Amino acid sequence: MWFFFSPNIIYGPDSIDFMENISGDKCFIITDKVVKDLGYLKILTDVLDKSGKKYEVFDDVVPDPREEGVLKARDLCLNYAPDIIIALGGGSVMDTAKVVWVLYEFPEFSLDDIHAFRNDLYDMGKKAKLVAIPTTSGTGAETTFITVISRYEDEIWKKFFFLHRGLIPTYAIIDPIFPAGMPLELTVNTAFDALAHAIEGLGTLWRNEFSDALALKAIELVFKYLPIIHKDEKNLEARDFLHQAATIAGLAFGNGQVHIGHTLGHSWGSMYHVHHGKSVGIVLKYVTQFIMNDSEKDDAIKIYAKLAKQLGWVSWSEVDKKAAEKVIEKLVDLQKEVNFPMSLKETGVSKEDFEKGLDSLVNLCFQDASSVLTPRSTSGAEFRKLYEYAYEGRDIDF
Ligand SMILES: [Fe+2]
Repeated sequence: MWFFFSPNIIYGPDSIDFMENISGDKCFIITDKVVKDLGYLKILTDVLDKSGKKYEVFDDVVPDPREEGVLKARDLCLNYAPDIIIALGGGSVMDTAKVVWVLYEFPEFSLDDIHAFRNDLYDMGKKAKLVAIPTTSGTGAETTFITVISRYEDEIWKKFFFLHRGLIPTYAIIDPIFPAGMPLELTVNTAFDALAHAIEGLGTLWRNEFSDALALKAIELVFKYLPIIHKDEKNLEARDFLHQAATIAGLAFGNGQVHIGHTLGHSWGSMYHVHHGKSVGIVLKYVTQFIMNDSEKDDAIKIYAKLAKQLGWVSWSEVDKKAAEKVIEKLVDLQKEVNFPMSLKETGVSKEDFEKGLDSLVNLCFQDASSVLTPRSTSGAEFRKLYEYAYEGRDIDF
């Protein structure tokens, strides 16, 4: 037995209007100040006003949401008693909303009650539907069941995973009106998050026929449309396809997961407060080389060779090793084309700070659940070397 879980997806221009078709008339909107200030909240509330739905807004979500903030939103939600919860924003908003949704449906729960090994969480939606409306094109969180919430422990903010397939939103509305105005650097960073979901997703131990097909399509779309946006930020067709690509990559990642690229990226992001997409995007090349260098099996070579052949980057007769290397070459070309950093050094962390933080970075890697599904088990010494190589921008030779 295996699974493929997905929200109902409405996408393309004007898909926000679908809100009118969702039954229920009290909406609890979870968002953040940036989304509000950019005018995106108003786009949503105009649609709600038009369809006669009432709403209350919680706009205090912060990046890397913390437990206290989530509990505050839960209290307000319980008090308002909505029949629709709407998440409008990026990954942090989605994560907050999913947890609030569980704590609203099951008010007796604490965060630690949210885990994969319980059946009652498959029964979500009795009190409210969750509608996820992403405003960035990257996290794919509108499709996934994993939330990341921070807690302060041992004098550091640590990221904890609270997950269950029941947390997948009821609806995801993928309307390009929201990411259309994203600044270019954020567009590129978030697109590299989507790309990491798809490229790592192809290699994980949970990869499957469904996730493979979606990862392939997402990679094709990011490679095609990100350079177009880089040249012409206002290209709405490209924005629409990139927005779809992020959701498609989210479906691949939500059902096949990711591996040590996200482990290294999460730790880097926690330590040095670097954007998630930037962190995982930079290490993507290095972890892909690492799994392709596995001396015990050549699965990764075969997977990435097939990718290069399916996307027409090499001929079908090309030998697998060379074809797989083409994926790295194409990735580097894309990074250069859209001005994406090639090394962790370029995230502005000094050599001194990096060396000082290296032990903690490696320790954090062992606390990050993303590494569980890596196709090549990774020792502490290897995590260390991966960071050192990725910091300097050296190709992985081990
Ligand atoms: Fe990610």
